[in-house]
Amino acid sequence: MCGIAGYIGPRNAVEVVFDQLKRLEYRGYDSAGVAFPVNGHIEVLKRAGKLTELQKLIGEEPRDSRIAIAHSRWATHGGPTNENAHPHYDAYERIAIIHNGIIENYLELREELLAKGHKFRSQTDTEVAAHVIGEEYAGGISLEEAVRKGVKRLRGAYALVVLSQSEEGKIVAARNASPLVLGVGSGENLLASDIPALLPYTREVVILEEDSIATLTTAGIQVMDLDGRPKPLEPIHIEWDIAAAERGGYEHFMLKEIHEQPEVLRQCIAGRVDDKLEIRLDQVFSEHVWTEIDRVNIIACGTAYNAGLMGKHLFEKLLRLPTDVYYSSEFRYGDPVLSPRSLAIFVSQSGETADTLAALRLCKSRRIRTLGIVNVIGSSIARECDRTIFTQAGPEISVASTKAYTAQVTVLTLLAMYIAQVQEMPGVRVEEAVQELVGLAERAEVCLKLEDQMIGLAEKYKDMPLCFFLGRGADANVALEGALKLKEIAYIPTEESPAGEMKHGPLALVQPGVIAMFGSTDREVRDKVVSSMKEIQARGGTVIAIVTDDDTVTEKAADEIVRIPGSKLEFLSALLTIIPMQLFAYHVARLRGCEIDQPRNLAKSVTVE
Ligand code: G6P
Repeated sequence: MCGIAGYIGPRNAVEVVFDQLKRLEYRGYDSAGVAFPVNGHIEVLKRAGKLTELQKLIGEEPRDSRIAIAHSRWATHGGPTNENAHPHYDAYERIAIIHNGIIENYLELREELLAKGHKFRSQTDTEVAAHVIGEEYAGGISLEEAVRKGVKRLRGAYALVVLSQSEEGKIVAARNASPLVLGVGSGENLLASDIPALLPYTREVVILEEDSIATLTTAGIQVMDLDGRPKPLEPIHIEWDIAAAERGGYEHFMLKEIHEQPEVLRQCIAGRVDDKLEIRLDQVFSEHVWTEIDRVNIIACGTAYNAGLMGKHLFEKLLRLPTDVYYSSEFRYGDPVLSPRSLAIFVSQSGETADTLAALRLCKSRRIRTLGIVNVIGSSIARECDRTIFTQAGPEISVASTKAYTAQVTVLTLLAMYIAQVQEMPGVRVEEAVQELVGLAERAEVCLKLEDQMIGLAEKYKDMPLCFFLGRGADANVALEGALKLKEIAYIPTEESPAGEMKHGPLALVQPGVIAMFGSTDREVRDKVVSSMKEIQARGGTVIAIVTDDDTVTEKAADEIVRIPGSKLEFLSALLTIIPMQLFAYHVARLRGCEIDQPRNLAKSVTVE
């Protein structure tokens, strides 16, 4: 997710906004740019790469201005190039825009504008938004009116900021879904995508509400709604130090990222589900390719492997498409049997994991079709796969992956539904399933409200010697990921297996003090799961069950019940059980005084074998 900065006031604005971008660097980015007025024109300087590249460009001549906006980009639409970096001009170069978020209807708008003769220099959705607002502005109205009218034509998530050559004394910003904060100074005002970029200048901060337009001048800040009605300005005083502010006030990045999941789920499907609940993944492969594929191999490591298991579950259950999941390290040395009609899917947050990259190169040498599901645009796996679908989860900083997992599973779900849609599979009610997927973010929000309960459980069981993670079907897959979280950050041994397999060995480890965390969201096997719970309890173990809100069976069996909102698509209920598991692992680790964001012996991106 991109970094946004803006300043108006007596200081050297170019220096201020550059400093703001530096304070947002921890979020990750791949290009950066700045815009400021020079002799009646808006100058835009931008470069792919690190901020030092932009600094060189700025340093080529003295830059002094009382007003500037700046942006660090984390690519979503179009690769990390100079052209795609922000700011973007409108068609007449009268305004320059920076943007965080995704404009879902940008392709339609682009077509419309192309037909009117507009020319685009980048592949971004942002440039389309710039042209839309520029078109309104050409009608001779004020900048805030043009932004207000322009954003009404945009669909999707945005925080966008505009500078105009003819109204040099103001910055106009608009917000819908993507974060934007305003800094209230004296004789100077600022804006940013995140609070740390404001703190050296002011501690009086306004969190701009959804569907609002703000105008910043040296005299003050005015906010209005999308119908032009003024809104009150309600600054809050921020006490956090800068390091805490980078984490959005959370104690650790991991907790911040856990809480970002509803937003990530929205971003992940943004632009991929249209108003008629049809999935738009047309850019992936042409439709006929999907009818040719007879087998899928999903190849990944760690959390991404666990996400792949969820993909297998769905591909086989929904599509009856045979699917195998491989650890990348095993695949590359395993002499795999590969059908020429198969598809190899590589799942990776970083897009740089050495084993996954090597497995990809092996598939390419065998001329197998390859598809990446990757978070980092411009990464090696994203570049080398025939096609890539991006998870759009924003930078993940904590070593233990959380939001990338939910995003990876969501993309695999979108993909499975897309294949069902293309193949018009009888018996698969795609529309109903998509409806459930669209509602997932809201249900994830409800799951986050379980945090106090998970803190209580963490306090009670933090000294457990061993924790089982069990379930059946999709719940068994999520159990693997829940176990991985607990061992990664709290260093507690875990034992994870499908619940039915327990009596073939792992049950020998159960004794008083041992905890068993069950995901139980599948109505069809509820009774079987309850039997497994009884087996644990009979040997002195304690059962924590995560169940859907309609379940009245399991509560009679478990020692502790955690309720999540159910979905008509049980697979999605299983996915959401990961949120209480993540919270449990996090709070156990915190109470045990563990490092959390950088657990011992582990790295975020494993680029060596
Ligand atoms: C490391 C990370 C894990 C991650 C795995 C795969 O082990 O600590 O969180 O799941 O690598 O990384 P990738 O970037 O390919 O998803």
